[in-house]
Amino acid sequence: MAEIRIRNTNERLPGEEAVREFLNEQGVLYEHWDPEKLPANLRDKFTLSDQEKEQILEIFDPEIQSLAERNGYVQWDVVALSEATPNLNELLKKFEQVHVHTEDEVRAITAGNGIFTIKGKGEIGYFDVELSAGDVISVPVNTPHYFTLMENRRVVAVRLFIDSSGWVAHPYEDPEFQR
Ligand SMILES: [Fe+2]
Repeated sequence: MAEIRIRNTNERLPGEEAVREFLNEQGVLYEHWDPEKLPANLRDKFTLSDQEKEQILEIFDPEIQSLAERNGYVQWDVVALSEATPNLNELLKKFEQVHVHTEDEVRAITAGNGIFTIKGKGEIGYFDVELSAGDVISVPVNTPHYFTLMENRRVVAVRLFIDSSGWVAHPYEDPEFQR
């Protein structure tokens, strides 16, 4: 279940209903896949072979096809990050820059955790969406955001794309953003 923290006020939204309503108002797609569809050996594994990545895509194929039909995604893959990832700190430094894309950014977390920090509409300012296994989120097109890991520093996620050129990160300078 995703959790929301509004950064300006440090407020956390209470419960699933409030989270869904808030993300809906912000134009952020949010849904849930059943992470228990994964066999036990893949639920806690953060270094994956190509074959294991394929296996994850096969297991969630109905969910992927459903999203793809609704939103026009044509390609997908699996990414895994953990302490075993070479240059993890440098990668995270790069990820943690506020940026925008010319298509939405979809991530389905299948193991571990992650945080999307997203610029909200109007007075809301930036908010954090803390994700755990099963959470599926899509940051809307041209919406300033960045992604990082939580304290456990590990995640496996399915990424879906409309066009491989659409997910290039364009830096977004924002005096309003405070780390
Ligand atoms: Fe992004």
